[in-house]
Amino acid sequence: MSDQPLQVLAVVGSLNPTSVTRSVLLQLAERLRADGCSVDLLDLEKEPLPLYNPDTAYDAPGFDALQSRIDRADVYVLGTPDYHGSISSAMKNFLDHFWREFAGKLFATIVASHEKGLTVTDQLRTVARQCYAWTLPYGVAFADEEDVRDGQIVSHALKKRLEMFVRDVRVYGGLLARQRRADLGGAEPGFMARHRK
Ligand SMILES: Cc1cc2nc3c(=O)[nH]c(=O)nc-3n(C[C@H](O)[C@H](O)[C@H](O)COP(=O)(O)O)c2cc1C
Repeated sequence: MSDQPLQVLAVVGSLNPTSVTRSVLLQLAERLRADGCSVDLLDLEKEPLPLYNPDTAYDAPGFDALQSRIDRADVYVLGTPDYHGSISSAMKNFLDHFWREFAGKLFATIVASHEKGLTVTDQLRTVARQCYAWTLPYGVAFADEEDVRDGQIVSHALKKRLEMFVRDVRVYGGLLARQRRADLGGAEPGFMARHRK
């Protein structure tokens, strides 16, 4: 067991100043911290990213600092509203900026939706697969008003699901982080071999 706390990057993918996704991610961040994780919150409303352009993105002001935060993370908790059955453009734009950094790490997803957000969850899983990341075998979805009211989580079902989510992020995130480090430092073949320096 490593004594280093699990590094979680929580990404708020809604630009709505009164976003329910943000409310849930803020509460989740507190619970993960209480469980011993170190949580960095990237709120795309407060830290906007320019629209991804492969010619300019990597030289944009602030890119190197952001890349260090992405590199440092062991787990990405990705929160997005359901827009037309899809992830938000802010979330997609964030994800487009990175891929190597995601390899071998865990994506854990939260979707604000009135329709269970299954297609949205699937899109995040597709991005994870394309970037050689892992995902939890489930996503968490919730509906505003029904599960979250005035910024507070009001449904028992969502509270229980978040409890499970926090535990699984900590346990599976930790297992994967240890194996990823071992693979980067090892000599066996495996999908992480190509990421060795
Ligand atoms: C452009 C747009 C498209 C939306 N499409 C859907 C949708 O397809 N399905 C759904 O359940 N909700 C849809 N919604 C509702 C949002 O997902 C919902 O209000 C969510 O709680 C917003 O989260 P936020 O407050 O974190 O931004 C849409 C909202 C907008 C603005």
